[in-house]
Amino acid sequence: MAAGGLKPVLPEYRGAPPAPPPIPPQEAPPSVRPADAAPGQDLFYDESNPDFASLQKANQALAGFPVDKTGKVDWMQVLRSGRIQPRADLRGQAAMSVLEMDIVMKNTKEMPYVLFPHRSHTLWLDCSNCHPQLFESRAGAHAITMNDIFRGKYCGTCHDRVAFVTHFSCERCHSVPHGTVKAWWEVPAPGAAHP
Ligand code: HEC
Ligand code: HEC
Ligand code: HEC
Repeated sequence: MAAGGLKPVLPEYRGAPPAPPPIPPQEAPPSVRPADAAPGQDLFYDESNPDFASLQKANQALAGFPVDKTGKVDWMQVLRSGRIQPRADLRGQAAMSVLEMDIVMKNTKEMPYVLFPHRSHTLWLDCSNCHPQLFESRAGAHAITMNDIFRGKYCGTCHDRVAFVTHFSCERCHSVPHGTVKAWWEVPAPGAAHP
């Protein structure tokens, strides 16, 4: 060691630090449902039924349908693309009564506000599916918590059950940033490749 207390500089500290290894490219998740998406799904049918072979299976019927980031069919996209046309009645003669009314729900603590779109729901649900049993027809009528929703009340009557999964899709309901509450799902994690 040199006299005077000076330590030798290690070679790796002399210049710029070495570049980190490149992040391997992420494989993009499939954007449509493959034909073999849910192999177990055919178990829902009664195989002893003589017509089993001629029934169209879900795997067949849903192949090619757009999926969301959780890999489940994104039914709003399917509906908007015109792939399905839900009927308002059995004969297919009546029209849905579609309501263009958004409700912004602000009891969301540190989360962006919730935007409830009547339009997206009344394209295929009747008013009576929600009013008056699930919701009074009055904005702000209910003190809703996520605990209620996870346990199957309010929005959770359908979401997590027949409509999109709540746990991994906060931003689909909590879609209205406000004040200092940002759209955090748009901020890439440090080091993540920007979409
Ligand atoms: C299906 C729609 C929906 C989804 C998805 C959703 N929320 Fe909510 N959330 C609501 C509604 C409705 C309220 C109540 C708003 C009101 O009454 O003003 C709420 C309220 C909240 C609240 C405040 C009340 C409480 O329970 O403490 C928090 C925090 C919250 N959500 C977090 C989340 C998180 C985190 C996620 C994702 C894991 C999420 N939410 C996903 C609909 C949703
Ligand atoms: C999927 C469920 C759902 C369906 C279907 C639905 N609503 Fe609602 N509606 C809500 C929710 C949620 C609220 C807000 C309740 C709250 O804030 O506590 C609301 C609020 C309302 C309000 C109060 C608005 C205000 O500003 O006070 C009216 C009026 C209303 N709905 C009418 C209708 C009519 C008419 C239909 C059918 C065309 C319909 N809704 C279908 C869920 C639904
Ligand atoms: C009666 C059933 C039902 C109830 C109750 C319900 N939803 Fe939905 N919701 C649906 C269905 C069905 C869809 C479309 C299918 C899907 O996206 O998975 C949907 C779709 C949505 C979408 C996507 C809209 C779009 O255009 O992309 C949002 C946001 C949403 N719901 C929020 C809520 C919130 C918030 C509540 C509670 C205040 C709620 N929903 C209550 C059935 C329901």
